[in-house]
Amino acid sequence: MNETYLNKIINEDVLKVLSMLADNSIDLVLTDPPYFLDKMDDSWDEKKVASTKYHHVIKSLPAGMKFDREQGKNFYKWYYKVANEIIRVLKPGGFFFSFSSPRLYHRMVSAIDDAGFLIRDCFIWLYTQNQPKAMSLNHFIEKLDEDKETKEDIKKQLNGWKTPQIKSCFEPIVMAQKEPDGTFLENFRKYNVGLLNTHVKIGQDMFPSNVISTNKINEIVDKCFLISKPDKKEKGDFNAHRTVKPLSLCEYIINLTTYSNEAVVLDPFAGSGTTLVAAKKLGRKFIGIDINKEYIEISKRRIKSTNANYFISNDINKERQLRILEKAAKYKRLNKCKIAKTI
Ligand SMILES: C[S@@+](CC[C@H](N)C(=O)[O-])C[C@H]1O[C@@H](n2cnc3c(N)ncnc32)[C@H](O)[C@@H]1O
Repeated sequence: MNETYLNKIINEDVLKVLSMLADNSIDLVLTDPPYFLDKMDDSWDEKKVASTKYHHVIKSLPAGMKFDREQGKNFYKWYYKVANEIIRVLKPGGFFFSFSSPRLYHRMVSAIDDAGFLIRDCFIWLYTQNQPKAMSLNHFIEKLDEDKETKEDIKKQLNGWKTPQIKSCFEPIVMAQKEPDGTFLENFRKYNVGLLNTHVKIGQDMFPSNVISTNKINEIVDKCFLISKPDKKEKGDFNAHRTVKPLSLCEYIINLTTYSNEAVVLDPFAGSGTTLVAAKKLGRKFIGIDINKEYIEISKRRIKSTNANYFISNDINKERQLRILEKAAKYKRLNKCKIAKTI
């Protein structure tokens, strides 16, 4: 049933497309959903979000300034439905990595948890450069019905005190897993998912970690957490998407969790297609979904100019991979029979 969608990006609403994908067919879901901050909900419209080419502005306020208690609750309700479909289409033991904002992370993880996933970890994408969003209150003080001297006193009193938005320097990424079928070993032999590839290195040949940085910070941080810096070309000059993720970050997660060239990576909120480009580059199969037609066109362009590398590791050439996969299918069939006989 998934054949129609393999290595394609579908321009539709996420829930509609997910409902058409087969059960237990996807190896990894790696995605960056709309954050439900200000107009960035599931009907995110680029034109409503951005009023200028250079600033990320929601009407007259910088993104993230408005606080609405319903945002998190609405996000939870919608993401619970999405997570319920994702758990159905993932293979047993398959991983679901989902980016979030620090503000709504708890709602996202609760939705994923309540849909039946095992919450394994929280990754953080660490960076030092970001625009602080905190605002001075001088503008509002000026509007107070007070004399000039009082206004000046208040301004002096609040010198340096700003609205409660600290400079944001990380993005949390949940690592959730669909319950494995049997032990980790049994599950891996049947589905080729559910374990992490510790040959994947981070920083200077370090054991893979849940902290990832894509910009040089200092010697120790770089040694432990740096993955290659985004190349200016990787995004594409034509790419107008506002929240493009670093390609190396997606590659790191795909390498860490998917075993073979047969693995299917799904990004249900593909945006400009970074996850899909990474999957193709690493010789994996992919399925992308996005509701916005313009982004689909950007993704297609980026994917077209990406070459696939089918080389997995020194020990596992294509022939051996196929042999292992055939044996896995046989093992799965036999074990299904055993289960059927014991019931
Ligand atoms: C945060 S962006 C993803 C960016 C992507 N990671 C990249 O690197 O370009 C979220 C995407 O979700 C899409 N989206 C929002 N609501 C959707 C829905 N109901 N169904 C499918 N896609 C949706 C938006 O069009 C947007 O491109």
